[in-house]
Amino acid sequence: MRILGIYGSPRPGGNTDRMLDAFLEGAREAGAEVDTVYARKLAMQGCIGCGGCDETGRCVVQDGMQEVYPLLEAAEGIVLASPVYFYNVTGQVKLLIDRSQALFMRKILAEKAQPPSAGRSSSAGKRGFLLSAAATRGKRLFDCARLTFTYFMDALGGEMVGELCFRELEGKKDVEKDPQLLARCRAEGTRFATP
Ligand SMILES: Cc1cc2nc3c(=O)[nH]c(=O)nc-3n(C[C@H](O)[C@H](O)[C@H](O)COP(=O)(O)O)c2cc1C
Repeated sequence: MRILGIYGSPRPGGNTDRMLDAFLEGAREAGAEVDTVYARKLAMQGCIGCGGCDETGRCVVQDGMQEVYPLLEAAEGIVLASPVYFYNVTGQVKLLIDRSQALFMRKILAEKAQPPSAGRSSSAGKRGFLLSAAATRGKRLFDCARLTFTYFMDALGGEMVGELCFRELEGKKDVEKDPQLLARCRAEGTRFATP
C-alpha cells in the first residue's frame, strides 16, 4: 500500500510531527511504501480562483504544489497530521487543500468523459486518516479540522476512515508525556496499512 504522510505543523519536531512519525513507522512495519510532504517547506501560494483547472484538471500556478499533485494522485492512503489552529487545520495545510481543487476538477472531467457504467475514476478508494493535537479540551475542538479533511478526501474521490485527535497538548513535546499516545499512533499506522 502506498501512503502519503502530510506534516501540517509549522513547528518542526512538535506533537503532530511525532504523531505522524509514529504512525508512519507502524505503517512501514506493515509493509507500506511511504511518501512524505512537509507543508511548512513548500514554497506555495493559495488557490487564486482563476478557474484555469476547470478545463484541464491542472493548476496553472507553478510553485511547490506541483510536486505534491503526483504524490496525492499516487497515494492509496493519505494521512494528514495538523495541529488545531483557531479551530481548524493550519494555514499551511489549508493552502495545500485549496490547491487540490485541480484534482477535484480532474476527477469531475474524468467522470464526464466516462459513462457511469465504465466504473469510478482512478483515484477512487483512497483512504484518509487524520492526526491532530490541540492545547485545550472543548467538546467540538476537532470538528472543523475533521470536516475540512473529510471534504478534502471526498474531493480526491476517497473517504476519511479514521482519526486520532489528542486534547491538552500544548508544549512541543507534550505528546511524549503519556507513552500510550504515540503507541496508539503507531498501532493505527499498522492497522491503516493492512486494510
Ligand atoms: C496560531 C495558533 C493557533 C492555535 N489555535 C488553537 C485552538 O484554536 N485551540 C487549541 O486548543 N489550541 C490551539 N493552538 C495550540 C496548538 O494546537 C497546540 O500547541 C498543538 O499541540 C501544536 O501542535 P504541534 O506541536 O504539532 O505544532 C494554537 C497554536 C497556535 C500557534
